[in-house]
Parts: sequence; structure tokens; C-alpha cells
Amino acid sequence: MSRIVYLNGEYLPEEEAQVSIFDRGFVMGDAVYEVTSVLGGKLLEFEGHMTRLERSLRELEMVCEISREEWLAIHRELLKRNELVDGGIYLQVTRGNAGDRDFHYPPAGTPPTVVLYTQSKPGLANDPKAEKGIRVISVPDLRWHRRDIKTVQLLYASMAKMAAEKAGKEDAWFVEDGFVTEGSSNNCYIVKDGKIITRQLSNDILHGITRASVLKMAAEAQMEVVERPFTIAEAQAADEAFYTSASAFVMPIVEVDGVELGTGKPGPVSKRLREIYLEESAKTAI
Ligand code: PDD
Repeated sequence: MSRIVYLNGEYLPEEEAQVSIFDRGFVMGDAVYEVTSVLGGKLLEFEGHMTRLERSLRELEMVCEISREEWLAIHRELLKRNELVDGGIYLQVTRGNAGDRDFHYPPAGTPPTVVLYTQSKPGLANDPKAEKGIRVISVPDLRWHRRDIKTVQLLYASMAKMAAEKAGKEDAWFVEDGFVTEGSSNNCYIVKDGKIITRQLSNDILHGITRASVLKMAAEAQMEVVERPFTIAEAQAADEAFYTSASAFVMPIVEVDGVELGTGKPGPVSKRLREIYLEESAKTAI
């Protein structure tokens, strides 16, 4: 069955949704995005994702005059029309149709291109990978330096995922100046002697919405959190590791560059945080 997607004010069957070959998103990767998870037909962390979207737009001087209420109405309409239970909603805003290829931004007033669609993932919260834990390799972080802006320029992240797949592992961690920045599409953490260690916020990493919530929940559960960079060697000597993202929540990591962590099974802190996150985020889902 074809999905109903949203494009520039219209709800259309996916086959009918078309964007210009001159769209800045297509030609220049000039676009920002958000992924909001859906569990039981409800949106998780909606406000957080919209706040970050507004920030990404602002940082790139992109104008998109859609209010929070309108964003919510579009998300809800897509959930309804596609009868989505578990999965997510992908949202993308580009700088619009420039009329031709040009490095300069199109004139002020050029309307942005706005696309949203649902992605169904039945049983998303019960991903068997979370039971087993995943394995990561490290790769140099060769991305641009404004990783705090959620742009669609994801080619290097995609290359990193392919490198992990070729190595027979599930994901990749980026390393810069000897320290882990983040995962290919997630924020990462190690646990040592009960302390949760994760890189502090800066332009070096995406300010994960899941990260913010998980750190708050960890503190509320009396867990100690230290925000500082860590190395691969430290990760390999850690008791546990995990990553967070909107689409995977809290995902235990059991191996880093071929070295098994702790018992080689998801650790208690990762497992507990996953439970807490799923429980608590369901309470604020809308
Ligand atoms: N990725 N870091 C990077 C580089 C990411 O791409 C993501 C999210 C995160 C986690 O952010 P959040 O908790 O807000 O999802 C960190 C999304 C899920 C994606 O690209 O599909």
C-alpha cells in the first residue's frame, strides 16, 4: 500500500510527490531534517525535535514559517492517514527551488520545500538487537565542523555505516584528535565504575534529543554522569557502552574495534536506562 506523504501543504500518495531537479536539497544538500519516533501511535519527544529543527533553520538562515501547532497537526494527520502504530516520522526542510544551480542562496522569499513521511517499524521498542547488544568499529571523523546542525549531508555517515557492515559489525564511532565524537547516527557513552561518560555538547556533535532526556533521567535515578570526551582505549576498558538516538532509544554496545566489553552482554546500566527511557518517554508522548 502506498503511503500518504506531505509535500508543501498537500497530502499526496508517495508516487505523486515530486520535487524539482533544481531544489537546493537535491543540488547542494541544503536542507535540515528531524526524525521523531512513534510508539503506539504517539509522537515521542515532539517538542524537543521541533526546538532543534527551529535552531537548525536559524543557524542556516533558512526561513520556514510553519508554527509548532501546524507541525503537530501535520504529524498527526500523517499518523492518522497511514495508521502508523510504531515507527517514525521523517521531516525535511530544504532551501527550496533555486530555478538553476547556483552557490548563492536563492532570493529571499523563495519558499522552502517541506516534506514529511511516515516510516513503519512494527515492534520498534522490542528490537532484538537491544537484547544482544551491537558491535562498533571506529573510523576517523571526516565530517564538516557544524555537526550540531542536523543537515541532510549524511554521505560520510553513510560511508561509515557501510564500513561497519563490510567489517561484519553494526555501527561505527567517529574519532577526532584521539577522542570519540559520536556514532554514525547517534550519541555514544561508556560506563566505568558506575559512572556514565559522554562527550559534552559543542559543534563537534549533534545535540541529541534522546541524549538530553537520558542524561536527565540518569541523574534522577541517582546515576553519576560525567560529560567529557573519551578515547577508544578507554571504551575498550569500560564496563559497558551504549548509544542513544530517536529511532533506537538506548542501544547497548558490547564490542568496540574487536574488543569485547565487560561480560560481552548488554550491561545493567544500559539495560536500566533503556527501560527508564521507554517508560518515561511514553508518559510525555503526544
Ligand atoms: N540520527 N548524532 C547523530 C550524528 C545523529 O544522526 C543522531 C540522530 C543523533 C541522535 O540524536 P537524537 O537523539 O535526537 O535522535 C546523534 C537520526 C535518528 C537519523 O539520522 O536517523
